[in-house]
Amino acid sequence: MIPHSRPTLSEADAEAVARVVLSGQIAQGREVEAFEREIATFAGQRDAVAVSSGTAALHLALLALGVGPGAEVVIPTYVCDALHHAVTHTGATPVLADADPATLGLDPDDVKRRLTARTKAVILPHAFGLAAGVEAFLAMGVPVVEDCAQAVGALDGGRPVGTRGALAVFSFYATKMLTTGEGGMVAGSDPALLARIRDLREYDEREDLTPRFNYKLTNLGAALGRSQLRRLAEFIQRRRTIAAAYGRLLVGLPCQFPPDASRGRHVYHRFVIQVERPLERLIERLEQRGVQCRRPVFRPLHRALGAGGFPQADLLGERSLSIPCYPSLTDGEVEQVAAALAGELPRS
Ligand SMILES: Cc1ncc(COP(=O)(O)O)c(C=O)c1O
Repeated sequence: MIPHSRPTLSEADAEAVARVVLSGQIAQGREVEAFEREIATFAGQRDAVAVSSGTAALHLALLALGVGPGAEVVIPTYVCDALHHAVTHTGATPVLADADPATLGLDPDDVKRRLTARTKAVILPHAFGLAAGVEAFLAMGVPVVEDCAQAVGALDGGRPVGTRGALAVFSFYATKMLTTGEGGMVAGSDPALLARIRDLREYDEREDLTPRFNYKLTNLGAALGRSQLRRLAEFIQRRRTIAAAYGRLLVGLPCQFPPDASRGRHVYHRFVIQVERPLERLIERLEQRGVQCRRPVFRPLHRALGAGGFPQADLLGERSLSIPCYPSLTDGEVEQVAAALAGELPRS
């Protein structure tokens, strides 16, 4: 079975982690500090704070921006549940907005309609690795948290994603663009915001009892992340090569390809096609052919809340299929995936 996703790990990664184990300094320490500096440099930011997950990064980014009870935060409905959890953990209310079929991310016009005097932030994911186009959101005058969990290395108007918003968050889960096992980061250029996040991520030896967390990343994870970061350009190149191969091999199939990817905008964390077929059955049949595919979003958030009024997200939920796309996928496996799809979605 070709898995939908898997991490891309090497001997060098194992050696980097082993060095930390042998040093005895396994909790948060120098490796974490070095990883923070390297991610800040890579992301074109002044500073970055490492945390234990992308969800923790979102949570602390919102708290640093002063989001709390009574506030509203606009998030997409077509996204993973982590965004909803991060907002509700602060005591604020998540306000859902519809998807933009041009980016599979947030629709700026729908976001504009949902802003109120209580809106304290917009979380803008660069969905599936495609830079969303931050300008339209910045123009709304509300702090934008750029969610780069799936898009490290993508370019937005020629600049790396994460450099325009008030803060940028990253996830380093096992199958993300680079991994620390579990982990995350908040990057930005406002020292006061980053100092707040650094303070909130740990609780030890503080005079006051302001509620804080244990959201720390370990040196073990950071060592792995640093080793992975050295190969990130190579990872992105391989993902783009696979995407280009799918573009050739799937041509003529009754499916729609991912949105425009010119000028470095897409790093293909996911290769998401649109298919007008019942997805459950198709996923089952592809699995019988030895290829695991997935819905890229489990279900739009509004479905879990029993709400309506998000027609584009509903369509994406019904039609989007994520097919294997990761650096360790071999050329032979890419051909097998394409052959399985061609078997299930014959050219007319
Ligand atoms: C867009 C987006 N934001 C945030 C997260 C949360 O990251 P984590 O799983 O590291 O908590 C994810 C996870 O998949 C994600 O896809």
